[in-house]
Amino acid sequence: MVVEVHASGFVPAEWEWPSTWGDRSRHDRTPAIIGHEFARVVTALGYGTTGLSLGQRVFGITDWHRDGTLAEYAAVEARNLAPLPGDVDFTVGASLPISGLTAWQGLFQHGRLRAGQSVLAHGAAGAVGAMVTQLAREFGGYVIGTGRAADRQAALVFGANDFLDLEHDDLGDVGGVDLVFDVIGGDVQRRSASLLRPGGTLVSVVGPVEARPVDRLTIDFVVESVPGRLMEIVGRVRDGRLRTHIGTVVSPRRRPPCAHPDRAAQGKTVIRVRPRNVGAASLQARSGDARRDLQTPSTCTPSATSSKVL
Ligand SMILES: NC(=O)c1ccc[n+]([C@@H]2O[C@H](COP(=O)([O-])OP(=O)(O)OC[C@H]3O[C@@H](n4cnc5c(N)ncnc54)[C@H](OP(=O)(O)O)[C@@H]3O)[C@@H](O)[C@H]2O)c1
Repeated sequence: MVVEVHASGFVPAEWEWPSTWGDRSRHDRTPAIIGHEFARVVTALGYGTTGLSLGQRVFGITDWHRDGTLAEYAAVEARNLAPLPGDVDFTVGASLPISGLTAWQGLFQHGRLRAGQSVLAHGAAGAVGAMVTQLAREFGGYVIGTGRAADRQAALVFGANDFLDLEHDDLGDVGGVDLVFDVIGGDVQRRSASLLRPGGTLVSVVGPVEARPVDRLTIDFVVESVPGRLMEIVGRVRDGRLRTHIGTVVSPRRRPPCAHPDRAAQGKTVIRVRPRNVGAASLQARSGDARRDLQTPSTCTPSATSSKVL
């Protein structure tokens, strides 16, 4: 199926992923197109495609080993797509798939979080961490967010019960936790493993976990595209239970989408491949819907330092 890309999310670490540079057989596939989450409109259907129609708004994750979404058009497997509701802007839609699904799968599928448990959410002001923090709180967890000193306020706004500045505070002060959600790795990950209570779980999204603490579980995983879950996530955004954290919105008018979009602010980087979503705006104007805050944040250049919580 071919889709016209309107907005594409971008994870800075994509430059380091082996799948960015090689296919499943490890053959070089450069020049590669990065960006693997998107919001867009279906423009052509492959033979046998069911459940989607031409012109439909969709969002989701594309295959890691194939060219991505920082392009005007992309070919995507229909099974990786979920319908994007008409009142959700493409920029918001493009910011959700990787962060939202990673947080969900890490907390509930791999971490088996239960109400009343404590969660150490590393990088709590980042794209994944903000989702982890909100979802863990919603499901009854006690969340200790971490990050740099400047991340404290954002982490607390996303719902962290407490915050630890990794550069100045002692991680050991956290005491015992039931679940560590690691987005940083290295020494932070190693020290976090020793904080787990018996029966606790360390979930990592930054590669294999070296620590093997006795009576504790360690898991690393790569997020999977699950359209049904994505629909639940966007439903939460629509009814205000979940906020996406968009840091930088890059306009191709100011910078070509193939350029290296450096990270300049907390949160997700989204590249606006096409102008604003006129359809969604007019739909909201007609209905007078209170969900106005789902509209596009103002477009800025990568040098902007402010971040937006939608
Ligand atoms: N396995 C998977 O399926 C999967 C899925 C999604 C993401 N990931 C990975 O998860 C990582 C996070 O992704 P993201 O999109 O959430 O990135 P992000 O938005 O940059 O968030 C990471 C957060 O952690 C903070 N941080 C990093 N190192 C730190 C340190 N040493 N001390 C204090 N704070 C630190 C960052 O602060 P600064 O920006 O100030 O450094 C940032 O706030 C990336 O490596 C990405 O590749 C993996």
